[in-house]
Amino acid sequence: MTEPMVLGYDEAGSGPVLFLIHGFPLDRTLWEGQLEGLKDIRRVVAVDLRGRGKSEAKPNGWSVDLYADDVAKTIESLGSEPADIAGLSMGGYVVFALLRRHPEMVRSVILIDTKAGDDPPEAKEGREKTAATVREQGTLAVAEGLIPKLVSPGASQEVKKKALAMAKNTPGETVAADALAMRDRPDSTSDLGMIKVPAVVIHGEDDQLMPVAGAKEMADLIPGAKFVTIPRAGHLAPLENPLAVNDALRNFLP
Ligand code: MLT
Repeated sequence: MTEPMVLGYDEAGSGPVLFLIHGFPLDRTLWEGQLEGLKDIRRVVAVDLRGRGKSEAKPNGWSVDLYADDVAKTIESLGSEPADIAGLSMGGYVVFALLRRHPEMVRSVILIDTKAGDDPPEAKEGREKTAATVREQGTLAVAEGLIPKLVSPGASQEVKKKALAMAKNTPGETVAADALAMRDRPDSTSDLGMIKVPAVVIHGEDDQLMPVAGAKEMADLIPGAKFVTIPRAGHLAPLENPLAVNDALRNFLP
């Protein structure tokens, strides 16, 4: 069995921890705008999930549960649980697993450009194809097609370059492991009604991968959750419109 690990991270600021979990096939640098923009109110910690950047690990049958155990171990190592936890997309799937497995670690929940449902059968097949392609040809083979869908139609070259750089830096074996972990994740929809901590759903208005209407439905199922849309942003809202995301976080953080 693969043991949970303490993840590598970048941090800025002091005070209660705001713990940030990136999406697929990205890394901790997704959150540079939040480290800079929120360090006056929080100890902002942006992790690399296992197998990339500062969290070296060799893929071996990983799961979103294992990723959540890594997150719990890392928060514990910071000595300041419970924390405010934000997850973008795949990072949101990890937040759902964390809520199931380590609810005591969570002070509040921030779900960004994510969804609660599991993969339908055709999407599961797609995950297997992605895993095979990146193993054989490397991450770029899927990243170049994926990046235009991750950003809004009006995204700047700089944003696209940044997203591509994150994907390029993520080893193919890790991207394959992420894809298979997402394939096997459970449906978290029935957990939404049981979330007892403050929650906010933040979603890019131009998210092409996960339409904003689905995010509103998810927010409606979480007791007392706030719902905020981010203008001029697609699936990677914290990267495309960091100021609006930071405002949403400032307004929400308990
Ligand atoms: C992500 O952004 O993390 C992924 O697009 C999520 C997914 O493929 O389900």
